[in-house]
Amino acid sequence: MVTDMSESKSEGGSVSTEAGGPRAHRRVDVDGPEDPIRTAVPEAMQYDYTNFYFGAGDDPFALLQPFDDWYSQVEPAGYYLYELPLHTAPGTRVDVGDTKTGEVRKGLINFASYNYLGLSYRDEVKEAIREAVEIYGGGSSGSPILSGTTALHKQLGRDLAAFKGKEAVLLFPTGYSANVGTIAGLMRSGDLIVADQFAHASIVDGMILSKAKSRFFRHNRADDLDRKLSGFNGKKLVIVEGVYSMDGDVPPLAELIEVCRKHGARIMIDEAHSAFVFGETGKGVAEDQGVEDEIDIHLGTFSKSLGGQGGYVAGPQQLINYLRGFSRSRFFSCALSPAVVAGIRKALELAKDEPELRTQLWDNVAHMQKLLGDAGVPIGESTSQVIPIMVRDDARIFMIGEEMFREGVFINPVRYPAVGKHKSRFRMSISAAHTREDLEEGAEIIVRVLRRYGICP
Ligand SMILES: Cc1ncc(COP(=O)(O)O)c(C=O)c1O
Repeated sequence: MVTDMSESKSEGGSVSTEAGGPRAHRRVDVDGPEDPIRTAVPEAMQYDYTNFYFGAGDDPFALLQPFDDWYSQVEPAGYYLYELPLHTAPGTRVDVGDTKTGEVRKGLINFASYNYLGLSYRDEVKEAIREAVEIYGGGSSGSPILSGTTALHKQLGRDLAAFKGKEAVLLFPTGYSANVGTIAGLMRSGDLIVADQFAHASIVDGMILSKAKSRFFRHNRADDLDRKLSGFNGKKLVIVEGVYSMDGDVPPLAELIEVCRKHGARIMIDEAHSAFVFGETGKGVAEDQGVEDEIDIHLGTFSKSLGGQGGYVAGPQQLINYLRGFSRSRFFSCALSPAVVAGIRKALELAKDEPELRTQLWDNVAHMQKLLGDAGVPIGESTSQVIPIMVRDDARIFMIGEEMFREGVFINPVRYPAVGKHKSRFRMSISAAHTREDLEEGAEIIVRVLRRYGICP
């Protein structure tokens, strides 16, 4: 039997499939006559990817048809807001293809791209990339340990090690592969890894791949970390993030480090969203909290604040030597394109030489926090350039997102499994490049739409 959601839609009942499609969910009633929202949510929106993860039967393709049936309903109802094609650089105003209407929406205020310092499209960066293309062409055509390493890769490694004040750096094709390769490169079956419960998927995947015993401690809670480390004899690694990517808050590092010391655990920090923007010299949250030298492994990406692509791990030379031999996600993958490396090098130089970019970023963050806070928008505990706008309605977040999109704001809805169920939100990124006008106009649109849905007063 194949799931047919259209049949069950009018009944509002449960749907089940032999192939393991959606199970019964209670329908959320949002279309009562007095409800000012009065927008019916298609029943299919009560389901998500998890309903299509396990299925009965022997055919690996058994879930494809039920998934397609579901997706063909939810895509036009809101899921189409993912993977919308940009027609411009990820600047503060972007032109975005509206795949529902076939139009290109021009000049949307962009709160979706990382690019926290506005570096990805700077003329100096583009020029450095052009020069590298002239010399090296497109790709690097090899694994970094074979033929893929160029003089530019070596220079970037040295530049970054000097900037971070570490003995050495290892480059990876992405931040994702940096986490996977570092964690699984170091930890083995029988060891223990304890990560914050909000750790990014790339950390979780590294933990799974390492085959070490995996545990999670309650978000930012040193007392729970203490419990999770207790009673284990053997190698222990604790993993935290600098800025949590969906909440925008930062960890209490000194407290967590103290617990690690007590248990003889090593600590790794993923500064994907905090390197190059936090701290007096831009090293990250560890520098900002005065514990830079007490962290054993520093990891990050080039895809956020530097507006490029790729990941890195920084630390003692011996750690880097070891990981060079055991990080399979680097070893068995093509090296970063030399053109990308040239762009990152220039972006790093600009981030270092223009501290005023960070000042501008934090001014913008404070301004947006005030605009949204004064309007009563629920923005969680963020203390960074990542500001969550809490909607907590997994079904209607897409309707709200679509209205924001049509009224002039490009911002991404985030729902399960990227965040917990009923923790749906918009993830807003603030950039140093936003002008006051961008921030004020954008906040006005967001607040106007949220009011219609009763998300803010
Ligand atoms: C905390 C964290 N680590 C790692 C990554 C992966 O980085 P990349 O997108 O550069 O692969 C992300 C991506 O969003 C992230 O938020």
